[in-house]
Parts: sequence; structure tokens; C-alpha cells
Amino acid sequence: MDKKKHQLIVIGAGPGGYVAAIRAAQLGMEVAVVDENKVLGGTCLRVGCIPSKALLESSEKYEEVKDHISVHGINVKDVELDLKGMLKRKDKIVGSLTKGIESLFKKNKITKYYGRAKLTAGKTISVESGGVKTEELEADHIIIATGSKSATIKGVDLDVDCVDTSTETLDYQEVPEHLAVIGGGYIGIELGSVWRRLGAKVTVVEYLDRILPGMDSEVAKEAHKLLEKQGISFELRSRVMGVKNEGKKVIIERRNGDPVEADRVLVAVGRAPNTANLGLVDAGIRCDERGWIVVDEDYKTSVEGVYAIGDVIPGPMLAHKAEEEGVACVEKIVTGYGHVNYKAIPAVVYTHPEIATVGKTEDELKDEAIEYRKGKFPFMANGRAKAIEYAEGFVKVLAHAKTDRVLGVHIIGPHAGDLIAECAAAMEFGASSEDIARTCHAHPTLSEAVKEAAMAAEDRAIHM
Ligand code: NAI
Repeated sequence: MDKKKHQLIVIGAGPGGYVAAIRAAQLGMEVAVVDENKVLGGTCLRVGCIPSKALLESSEKYEEVKDHISVHGINVKDVELDLKGMLKRKDKIVGSLTKGIESLFKKNKITKYYGRAKLTAGKTISVESGGVKTEELEADHIIIATGSKSATIKGVDLDVDCVDTSTETLDYQEVPEHLAVIGGGYIGIELGSVWRRLGAKVTVVEYLDRILPGMDSEVAKEAHKLLEKQGISFELRSRVMGVKNEGKKVIIERRNGDPVEADRVLVAVGRAPNTANLGLVDAGIRCDERGWIVVDEDYKTSVEGVYAIGDVIPGPMLAHKAEEEGVACVEKIVTGYGHVNYKAIPAVVYTHPEIATVGKTEDELKDEAIEYRKGKFPFMANGRAKAIEYAEGFVKVLAHAKTDRVLGVHIIGPHAGDLIAECAAAMEFGASSEDIARTCHAHPTLSEAVKEAAMAAEDRAIHM
């Protein structure tokens, strides 16, 4: 078999890999991408961010029309759920976006290989499909962007009937009567919210004494309160020891507390890097004890010319972090300069209300003994939030006590995921809370809550 040579080969066509490939092509490189899935876009587009957001939107609309629309003076009778239609819409969105990546590849003259890539010595890659070797490739540079997969915990076998990962949970053909979720993180509360809105009883079983670990604890507490008010039950301090089938039910055994009986169980206890069967050991690429590929600040692995980005290296497992790393990695290769500011990576949980965060949490500032000022502003006092009947939550701006530099912003409330962009931009520019406070924000907009929170950091919020 003749070896095909490329300047750059990217393994994995998720947000990290496909973005890296396109940026490299823009910079004049000759690029190929290998993916074991015929549909491009990785977990994010196929079975992650995009389909979950489609269902979050549809389920929110369903619940709004069914239970809350009358407050606007609109009465709707006989609201019916068409789950098949809802799933079809989600699939259509996924289809159009994944096809969009194919056309971007064509536009940028990126070669596509279908199959499973395995690294071999000397920057070569063999591609297999159905156990048969289909290609042998060679490159000057290789970027590993193979992403992550759902993790599980000891005692929880994903082969037990009705014990699912997020992938299956995005495609339930009927609403489960009782969905139990193991893990009160991003996936647990997003997908728990979807199925609760569609009619399931939802119980989240969480090991810690709080949900959303790592997020600002004041925000997580508010999220817990609001999600509970919506009807999700939380079993905190609950260590899951095992799951088993009993008849058609699944029983979750806990170390402390009675077993939880459910119709389906979503396991959402984190994700693990996809580094198995990639030939890393044979190729001499070093991983740490948790399975992440070890890289330096230029994303270089222990093998010259081989790089890694996204969920396979340490850091938050977020699509946009992978994208930034993909761009920075190829810019470093081609131009010698690229940059990701890890202090200003936003994160969003797409519940109702949304939760968004950037920078240090208040808990971190306390732990690190950094002196700070805090400005908090409730959406209840924001005119636009009242007008759209979505006034839960608050914005919290944390600024350095002496320099006033913004250290972190945490939002729970309407369109928090969009509002956080201004805060990330402010942090990128090294803004002070006064910079945000003195920036004119249009009225009436939700963004005024960000301005008012920044003003509150100097005790001069107007509407509070
Ligand atoms: P996560 O790390 O957010 O949450 C996992 C939860 O499981 C934690 O609260 C943990 O304490 C709990 N847990 C662990 N072991 C347990 C046990 N034995 N019993 C009970 N609870 C246990 O992980 P999740 O939700 O699975 O998400 C995976 C990754 O995907 C995250 O890193 C997240 O960044 C990413 N993601 C991002 C989204 C977004 O940006 N909106 C949406 C979905 C996922």
C-alpha cells in the first residue's frame, strides 16, 4: 500500500479538529482529517452540544406553552407533545450542521479519510475500517483531537438495560416515567431538565453536597433552588455503589440512603479522554496517570511533530476550549505565535435559567486569599427581564479590591450564555469593573444587569 503524504493530518473531526484543519488550510497548509465517524463534527455536533441544545429549546417551548403562556394573556388549550417531531427537528439540525462542515472542508480543500487512525512510529498513521487497513498516511505534523467519551464509575455497568449515557438520552422514543440521573454536573442537569419538562419524574443522585462542582457555589446554590422548584429532586451526599435490573426497573444502590428505583438511568459522572487504541505507547507519546496526553504550552507531545488539543489534554472539556486550542496550535506551527487565555474561558449550562461563568469563582478567591469586591444585581430589578417574564437569578461581578480588575463574572438568569461574552471580552482586555460600569449599555436590555452588577461592585448600582 502506497503511503499518502500530507503536510498536516488531524485525527478527529470534532470542534477541536475541524477548526484546526480549517485554520491550517487558511494559513496555506495542505491538510487531511481522519475520523472514524462518517458524519463530521464529533461528539459536540452529533451527540452533544447541538442536539442537547435543540431538545432544551423545544422542551422549554413545550413547557412554556403548556404551563406559562397564559401570563402573557394568551390562552392555549390542548397542548400536545409530539416527541417524534421534536426528535426529528433535532436530527435535522444536526444533519444540516454536520453537512456544513463537509462543505467547509471542500471549500478549504481538506482531504477526508474515514476510519480509525492509529499512530505508528515516525509520524505515520494507519487507518482501519471494519478491521481492515484502508490507508497508510504520513505527515510533517499530526494533531491528535480525538475528544472524550462518557465515563462511568465502579459498579455502574453501562451494559445494564436502561442504563444510558447522554447519547441514548438524546434519543428516547418515549418519555420515561422516572429518569434517575447519576451526577449533578452539566450533562445531568441539562438532560434532566429536558425530560422533566417533557413529563418525566427526574431524580439527580449526586455524590457531593452540592451540584455543579467547580462553579461558583452561590450560583450553584441558586441553580439547585430553582431546579428543585421546577420539580427536579436532588439526592445529595449520595455515593452510587451499583446499578441492577429488577424486572423492567433499574435499581440504583447507594452507600448512604435507600436504593432509588427508576425506569431509566442516565450516567453523567464526567468524561474520559479518548486515548485508547490510538497507538500512543508504540508511537512514544506520553500520557499522565489520568490518561490525558501530556503537552507543553505549544501543544507539543513527547514526540516531535505530534501535537494534541481539546478533551485529550488537561483542562475544561468544552468545545470552545478545543476550538481555541486548535487555532492556537496551528498558528504556532505556521507563524510561531498563537495564544489561548485560560483565565478567560467561559462556561455555560443551558438550563432555565441559564448559568454562565468566566474567571475565578468567589470560592477560589477566598481559597487563594485574593482581596476582592463583589457587585451583585438581580434580574428582578431589570426592566427587560420583567418584560420577557424571565426575571430569576442574578449577575455577580468580582473585581480585585485594589486594582478593580475584573477577576470573574458569574451569571444565573435569562440568556446568561450570551451575556457572559461581554464579560469574557472585558477580561481579555484587562478591564476594571469601572470600565464595564461606565460603558453605555442599551436600554432596555438584559445586559444592563451586567453593567449594574459592575456598578454594585462600587456600591453605586442605580436600580437597587
Ligand atoms: P461533570 O464533571 O460536570 O459532573 C459530574 C458529576 O458527577 C459531578 O457533580 C460529580 O460529583 C458526580 N459524581 C461523580 N461520581 C459520582 C458517584 N459515584 N455518584 C454520584 N455522583 C457522582 O460531568 P458531566 O455532567 O458528565 O459532563 C462531562 C463534561 O462534558 C463536563 O466536563 C462538561 O464540561 C462537558 N459538558 C459541557 C456542556 C456545556 O458546555 N453546556 C454540556 C454537557 C457537558
